[in-house]
Amino acid sequence: MDSLAAVDWTAYEQEALKAIEGALSESELDDARVKYLGRKSELAQALRAVRDRESGMLLNGIRARLEAAVLAREHDLLRVAYEAAADSGVDVTIPGHPVRRGRLHLLTQIRREIEDIFLGMGYEVWDGAEVATTWENFDALTSDPGHPSRSQFDTFYLDDDTVLRTHTSPDQIRAMQQRTPPVYLVSPGRCYRRDTPDATHSPIFLQVECLAVDRGITLADLQGTVLQFFRALFGQEREVRMRTSFFPFTEPSVEFDVTCFICGGRGCGTCKHSGWIEMGGAGWVDPDVFRNVDLDPAEWQGFAFGFGIERIAMLRHGLPDLRAFWENDLRVLGQF
Ligand code: DAH
Repeated sequence: MDSLAAVDWTAYEQEALKAIEGALSESELDDARVKYLGRKSELAQALRAVRDRESGMLLNGIRARLEAAVLAREHDLLRVAYEAAADSGVDVTIPGHPVRRGRLHLLTQIRREIEDIFLGMGYEVWDGAEVATTWENFDALTSDPGHPSRSQFDTFYLDDDTVLRTHTSPDQIRAMQQRTPPVYLVSPGRCYRRDTPDATHSPIFLQVECLAVDRGITLADLQGTVLQFFRALFGQEREVRMRTSFFPFTEPSVEFDVTCFICGGRGCGTCKHSGWIEMGGAGWVDPDVFRNVDLDPAEWQGFAFGFGIERIAMLRHGLPDLRAFWENDLRVLGQF
């Protein structure tokens, strides 16, 4: 039994138990554990030197009892800490507050989706300004000087010559002034009109403008691009149709319909039983608009469209009232 030489193991165990049971904090307990059970402790060294069964049983017995004592003291210290916290009025057993994860607003999701579709077709995403001159917002787009949409009752004026843009179409003007054609861009953003809020109107709303300027652009290019766009947005089975319309800055002007993506064209409440859903205005850029930005309409042609982003979101998700987008009720927005 020479591996046991020189140590009084009964005294060792008692001294160790006293240190463990008397530890008043986790760090005191850890010190005691290192001292009496750690790799460099007398016990560990003696265990490594053990050659006979009897010594092994003795030393392993001490180790097992000391380890159990450490564990028990650990629980004691924890319980004391819990009780102290409870006494101070904190109930440490109450589950914590769940951490809410934020998400993108539905309109932001759709705007980004639209940007991705057009980036995929080689378009530039244009970041237009929400403040426009009356020239950019109306005159350069050849809108009639006496048109009621210019009045103070329809448009937010910042001063006589400056407005909050009433549509994204002034971005066409700025883009053609700043870029040399060919130009292929989409410009999504906020627009402002003095409308009273209701289920389908809001004084602040989002549009996405598209402008393509190149040589030899035809209405067929417009139709193909819009078809691609709607198929990416609403599914590959969609068809589009153009109806004639009027806008001052396009000639000819059209409005686009897409086959209803709820009923597939058979007729339902969303498409008012027509099988078609109206998506918005478009057309072939009027030569006068080119002249207003010093482009020669004999050389350059183009198409443009402007669609409402809220309308796209409402149709796609069957939402009846666009005020839901602005009320910021997380029970609604959290569903998308
Ligand atoms: N700016 C028009 C509006 O707000 C929509 C529009 C119509 C945009 C025809 C266009 C277009 O680019 O070509 O009602």
